[in-house]
Amino acid sequence: MKRLAFLASGGGSNVQAILDACQGGRLQAEPVLLISNNSDAYALQRAEQAGIQSLHMSQKTCGSFEALDQDMVTCLQENTIDWVILAGYMKKIGPRLLQAYAGRLFNIHPSLLPKFGGQGMYGMNVHKAVIAAGEKESGATIHCVSGEYDQGRILAQAQVAVLDDDTPESLAARVLKEEHRLYAETLQKIISGKISLA
Ligand code: GRF
Repeated sequence: MKRLAFLASGGGSNVQAILDACQGGRLQAEPVLLISNNSDAYALQRAEQAGIQSLHMSQKTCGSFEALDQDMVTCLQENTIDWVILAGYMKKIGPRLLQAYAGRLFNIHPSLLPKFGGQGMYGMNVHKAVIAAGEKESGATIHCVSGEYDQGRILAQAQVAVLDDDTPESLAARVLKEEHRLYAETLQKIISGKISLA
């Protein structure tokens, strides 16, 4: 079974959805640990509740961006992690981690990339921009992580309609529901060979 590590900075509802999918047998993978840069992240509590290791690692706790990058790789390798699952992780991934886990780092983004991605496009900013642009459709994207924000190969997308009376909050809630389904489903499709990483 693929051994999973999560990187999360916030609430971790996507982490929870993946933990639940593993628990329920819909995702045949083994969650092992969660790393957060934010000691207050609720995601850390979710990991504890699920009985997996939860770690607070940041530039501050490690001393520098470079040290954090190296310490993360060491920790992931010591725990024989196969896949690194980014779920609302708000920090840039360092070059060492990118190289050590090339093609095995995944992220979720709450828009139909390449639209509404890139620096500054996170959280409510994304949904505000979608509505301001008059888009009729938005959604969620699962992609491989590369050196640039929200780039890297797109693996799967889910569409949701943008309604005339949508606020950024109502749109975010509808997209998030799809995110929860899409992330675990996509990882399982990679495992079963329905989506190829090659
Ligand atoms: C999600 O909208 C995800 O697409 C984005 O950050 C948000 C994280 O939400 N990358 P949660 O912490 O999983 O609830």
